[in-house]
Amino acid sequence: MEFSHVSFAYPESGGRKILDDISFTIHAGETFAILGSTGCGKSTLISLIPRFYDATEGQVLVDGVDVKDYSLKDLRSKVAIALQKSEIFSGSILDNILWGNPDADRLKAAEAAETAQAMEFISQKAEGMDAPVTQGGTSLSGGQKQRLSISRAVLKNAEILIFDDATSALDLKTEARLYEALKRTRPEATKIIIAQRIASVRDADRIAVLENGKITACGSHAQLYASSDIYRDICRSQGQDGTNG
Ligand SMILES: Nc1ncnc2c1ncn2[C@@H]1O[C@H](COP(=O)(O)OP(=O)(O)OP(=O)(O)O)[C@@H](O)[C@H]1O
Ligand SMILES: [Mg+2]
Repeated sequence: MEFSHVSFAYPESGGRKILDDISFTIHAGETFAILGSTGCGKSTLISLIPRFYDATEGQVLVDGVDVKDYSLKDLRSKVAIALQKSEIFSGSILDNILWGNPDADRLKAAEAAETAQAMEFISQKAEGMDAPVTQGGTSLSGGQKQRLSISRAVLKNAEILIFDDATSALDLKTEARLYEALKRTRPEATKIIIAQRIASVRDADRIAVLENGKITACGSHAQLYASSDIYRDICRSQGQDGTNG
């Protein structure tokens, strides 16, 4: 997928550009991370892919086709998004994972939960996937809710998977297992990861640093550590060095 000279301003923000002439390409199967301070426009950027908003200037392309040339239904079937806060409703864990995907079944839901590292806590429940959850997921921890939401996104089997701060409540080991499982089970999917922690993104194929509406640096962790002052500053503030792994 590709962003070609994309600029964006919210209609109500008086023309202030949140994204300013952004261009980059993400290859199928690649893990692409986006890093940047709060409010810099990360969620805005990814919202242009499923057309929650349209670029003010420039083009967003999926499989070489402008997103505006797809039907919304076709476009959105290609994109799965997991957010930091997910909607959990009362019903079983299985109902919650299957939500929005009428084609899926119990086995596929279990596989998705396995990839999302959710089986770890589901299997501890006597009723397993049939265990009830309350409205809003009040009976679940933040990290458990996030893993249900990720199970749901994985189950959608979309070619573009977007995680917008979707693993922020997971400990680093669980998060690393999740990303490994994702690479293993969905090698062909394009994975876009927004995260605050360097430890969450340092294994990504490429990391883009978003600042003042521009991508000011883009490369692997080691490349950015060597070349980008701001990236190195973020790393140091989080106690991360320039090595991989
Ligand atoms: N619907 C909206 N209408 C107008 N302005 C918005 C809207 N959504 C976000 N903004 C503004 O756009 C800017 C970018 O917001 P965005 O949510 O993309 O940031 P972010 O990088 O995802 O931040 P965070 O890391 O906190 O999630 C912010 O200044 C925000 O106030
Ligand atoms: Mg955001």
